[in-house]
Amino acid sequence: MKIAVFDSGIGGITVLTEAIRQLPQEDFLYFADTLHVPYGTKPKQEVQGYIYDSISMILQEPIKAIIIACNTATSIAISQLRANSEIPIIGMEPAVKPAVEMSRSIGKRVLVLATPLTLREAKYHELVQRVDDLSIVDSLPLPDLVEFCEALQFDSEIIKTYFNKQFAAFDLSQYGTLVLGCTHFPFYKRILSEILPVHIKLIDGSQGTVRRLKEMLAAQAPQHEAGSGEITFMCSGHNESYTKKMREAFKLYNESINTN
Ligand code: DGL
Repeated sequence: MKIAVFDSGIGGITVLTEAIRQLPQEDFLYFADTLHVPYGTKPKQEVQGYIYDSISMILQEPIKAIIIACNTATSIAISQLRANSEIPIIGMEPAVKPAVEMSRSIGKRVLVLATPLTLREAKYHELVQRVDDLSIVDSLPLPDLVEFCEALQFDSEIIKTYFNKQFAAFDLSQYGTLVLGCTHFPFYKRILSEILPVHIKLIDGSQGTVRRLKEMLAAQAPQHEAGSGEITFMCSGHNESYTKKMREAFKLYNESINTN
């Protein structure tokens, strides 16, 4: 049985990569909802429908757990998905709590980067309210970054110009941590580290998410059986060229983190 990793597009590949690192013996099915990416700029109810349809497609395969490798999908659908599921479903949310702890200890602020839909949702506002007692968290929606990523736009100069424009209103020397609250964004870690002040730490939720999955699988033992490290790519459009793009993105991301 496989572990499914689900996202609107190629962003979840950043989580898949971490899952393979922590669970190299497992078989993975990566599913992208290519027909409807991006999610973050669309109305909530419309996206909820896309998510439920995608999960039904995924469940036609032999699956033992699902990682919702998408902050946007988690924020609007995780409770409903869990309520209707017999297998473990692990979601992702912007790593605001560890970011607040890190920044607070050095007297700095936190900047959360995510999709407009994630940042609008009650789940995000409740999370910030719970952990941000000193009011040091600011948020910045970056929908264009998802589009760049889906177009495999990794040209340093174009992306640096884009980031510089987006960050123009912020005094970055005041920030200690940047939260990558969208799974597409770790593709741009290297470029970000080149333009940000050196003291700023980048933080994303993939390690913690995969750790939780690992604990859940361990708790399921002895029924739990590992696989042979196979990775299958699937998408809602059943589109050969998108499948090729997913493989290309997987390769590029792995190269980028191995040269860091
Ligand atoms: N990768 C997604 C996330 O983590 C969503 C990107 C999108 O489809 O807008 O939020």
